[in-house]
Amino acid sequence: MTNLFQAPKGVPEYFPPDSAAFLAVRDALAKPACNAGYGYIELPTFEDTNLFVRGVGESTDVVSKEMYTFDDRGGRSISLRPEGTAGVMRAVIEHGLDRGQLPVKLWYAGPFFRAERPQQGRYRQFHQVGVEAVGIDDPALDAEVISLADEAYRSLGLTGYTLMLTSLGCAVCRPPYREMLQTFLGRLSLDEETSRRAALNPLRVLDDKRPEVQEQLAEAPLQVDHLCSECRQHYDAVRTHLAALGVRWQEAPRLVRGLDYYTRTTFEFQHPGLGSQSGIGGGGRYDGLMAQLGGQDLGGIGFGLGTDRTYLACRAEGLSVGRPERCDVFLVPLGDAAKTRIVALGGLLRVAGVRTDIAYGDRGLKGAMKAADRSGARYAVIVGDRDLESGVAQLKRLNTGEQSEVLLTGLVDVLKERLA
Ligand code: HAM
Repeated sequence: MTNLFQAPKGVPEYFPPDSAAFLAVRDALAKPACNAGYGYIELPTFEDTNLFVRGVGESTDVVSKEMYTFDDRGGRSISLRPEGTAGVMRAVIEHGLDRGQLPVKLWYAGPFFRAERPQQGRYRQFHQVGVEAVGIDDPALDAEVISLADEAYRSLGLTGYTLMLTSLGCAVCRPPYREMLQTFLGRLSLDEETSRRAALNPLRVLDDKRPEVQEQLAEAPLQVDHLCSECRQHYDAVRTHLAALGVRWQEAPRLVRGLDYYTRTTFEFQHPGLGSQSGIGGGGRYDGLMAQLGGQDLGGIGFGLGTDRTYLACRAEGLSVGRPERCDVFLVPLGDAAKTRIVALGGLLRVAGVRTDIAYGDRGLKGAMKAADRSGARYAVIVGDRDLESGVAQLKRLNTGEQSEVLLTGLVDVLKERLA
């Protein structure tokens, strides 16, 4: 029988016990940023479509092919956010966050949406933990951002990833390089579609995976070899700081990112264990973005780490991350009067910080004790109507079976002591 309703295609769902690992991954990805002075920002999951067109770039696949775009009831074009940086910049400009102390350091976490062809690790709704550090152009800040991501992956126990690093130059050295690349590509024998791409965004051609294209690209000029002196100094300084922070990287002069705003430092964390999707996180500097969106001409740097893909990378490395929520105590009422007392006791125990569950549904003792075992609780508290008359409860230690009688009035304290 097929179900009447199914989740939308390409959307991963997490439920117990695996959802505990998903949450633990999300928290681990955010922790280093929280420890480095980044404040949390909560943003809308949909924005004016033009924000992404202007911010991310009209020629990117993300904007031209993958956005979920619709008109709202007022006829405004709205898109589900495909990424977080444009929205953060919009909020920084709109709320004047850049008028206070710089850099503005923010982190965020939540769902993002791209209408991609779904496969393992490539979803239509996926989660990111991201940071943005805006307003100060200091290579040491680039190194901080990169090291926060590296630290987050390491804290999960991941070892099989590689940090790919390059510099994409700036408004001074990118245009002449672009022209040089275009001239080079113009001399190759490329199919029509690729030639069109070369004319529109030649950097994207460098990312073409087809061997026949890659062969022709062996001698292609690379941006890192054509940086202006300021960009070169900046990149050298980033690498000096990264080395000092103990972060290891691989030079990736052909790294191409799917978003148009990147300048200078650009990076991606890749993991081979996810099938065809290797990017578990990525980011870089975006020095023209804020002005492009109507704000001050301030630079910024950030990253987006894929929570779903990091979770898959942990699984691929056999890491056990996070523990499912368990209870400490499982309460078993036997009889109506006992139930009223147990429900109240459950409330008291939770307020006292004891994780407590109850055998609901008026099951018999056998069924309730099975549920107690499955709950993972350390103690079961059984109260029958007769116990109630004597003001006592049966306290059972579940792993040993050892049982004792305790006064109901002292139960919260006894449990707190035993569980301490
Ligand atoms: P991005 O590389 O497009 O960058 O996405 C960041 C991460 O999100 C990727 O490395 C990947 O792990 C995850 N991701 C992207 N698309 C999917 C998908 N369809 N399914 C599963 N996971 C996915 C950005 O979004 C930039 N905003 C990052 C940034 C922040 N740059 C500067 N600041």
